[in-house]
Amino acid sequence: MGTEKKYYIETYGCEMNKSDSIDIALCLQDNGYEQAKSGVDADVVILNTCAVRENAEERIFGRLGYYRALRKSSVKRPLIVLAGCMAQEKGEEITRLFPEVNIIAGTYHMLDIPAYVKKFEEEKSTQVAIDKSIYRFSEYKRDRAEGYKAWVNIIKGCSNYCSYCIVPYLRGHEISKKSENILREVRDLALNGVVEITLLGQNVNAYGRDNNDISFNRLLGKINDIDGIEWIRFLTSHPKDYDEEIVRRISELPKVCKHFHLPLQSGSDRILSLMNRKYTIYQYSVIIEAIRKYMPHASITTDIIVGFPTETERDFHLTLDAVQNFQFDDAFTYRYSERPFTRAADIGGKVHPTIAKRRLEELIEIQRNISYEKNKNEIGRRKRVLIERMSKKDPSEFLCKTEIGKLVVVRTKARAGKFIDVMINDISGNTLRGAEL
Ligand code: SAH
Ligand code: SF4
Ligand code: F3S
Repeated sequence: MGTEKKYYIETYGCEMNKSDSIDIALCLQDNGYEQAKSGVDADVVILNTCAVRENAEERIFGRLGYYRALRKSSVKRPLIVLAGCMAQEKGEEITRLFPEVNIIAGTYHMLDIPAYVKKFEEEKSTQVAIDKSIYRFSEYKRDRAEGYKAWVNIIKGCSNYCSYCIVPYLRGHEISKKSENILREVRDLALNGVVEITLLGQNVNAYGRDNNDISFNRLLGKINDIDGIEWIRFLTSHPKDYDEEIVRRISELPKVCKHFHLPLQSGSDRILSLMNRKYTIYQYSVIIEAIRKYMPHASITTDIIVGFPTETERDFHLTLDAVQNFQFDDAFTYRYSERPFTRAADIGGKVHPTIAKRRLEELIEIQRNISYEKNKNEIGRRKRVLIERMSKKDPSEFLCKTEIGKLVVVRTKARAGKFIDVMINDISGNTLRGAEL
């Protein structure tokens, strides 16, 4: 014992990447590796990367700089694997800037990492795996659980080609996992004590269309029937793939958490059309109204981009109006970032960074107030919460989540993975506090 090779994974980007990192770790363990406490103790360091915006890439360049220095000073000189979206984007080009990258494993090759490490050791030459010919879903099931919760990939890739977005080029087109495999996976997780699952995909409500499988709604219905599963979450859905009937049917499934992450991107129809989002503000508002009608207590969160090419003050003010109208519980807000391959990169009328920055600050301020008011509305309500983890500041306090995804700090003797009833009685910053009932 103790002679196993050690790996260390750093993960950037979205939930999909975090989920892929679980598979990478399991695959390395299957091949005899054990987890290192940090990059310093590792034989192999994997950076699972994101390329969605320029600043995501800059962070990764920073980390590569750190590992360059570490390799000079450390005894272990770990192998460096660049995995995921930025690996897919840059391919071999990365080695011109960072020759210390030994293996480049694109989005279709996460599970091949141990094999490429072996090949590198044999051949002592950089390994590049970025072809997108065959996609394999991971075979890991119950081992993917993180205690009481688990992510379940249901669809990979994206076929939408929003004009600003690099993801379809890096993750390939949509491929749905077979529903029978998803259901087996969820049953297996439930038997293993998992109570909360999050269905994952760039566009979960496109599920089943590429392979003529059951619809996303039918899938939710079937998962809803699995004993042991208490809460079902899903991320992300595209507004163009909803209608009132779909929303109504979701409202009838008791285990499906009534939290919708529905990226708006812009409040201007002109910009939405340039973004190739395939809906108008009116169509978006019909979905929001349906959610509010059938699920008055549902929470709705969103993503918004400011400073898209040609965005005028008027367009931006339409976004602010939309934000006021829709009263989102929370919003992830971004400054437009030009990305290779994308169509928006060819649109003239770039917005000056100072203007985009000012717009972003204005938007954040408005949304912050809305989020605060929304959260304050929860005070005085009785809620069932799932205990997630111990507070770092005080071990007698736990961070819990309500069904609609709000965080609540509660003093309790119960442990992570248990449901308790609380009365929400206070708010500090944007975190709620509750007393156990
Ligand atoms: N598939 C998901 C999310 C993909 S990326 C969806 O469509 O909902 C997450 C968010 O990043 C997007 O919703 C968008 O708001 C933002 N984003 C994507 N590309 C961007 C770019 N080039 N510049 C700025 N923000 C971007
Ligand atoms: Fe990107 Fe649009 Fe696909 Fe989301 S739906 S991943 S924003 S192309
Ligand atoms: Fe980033 Fe790739 Fe996710 S680009 S946002 S890690 S799909």
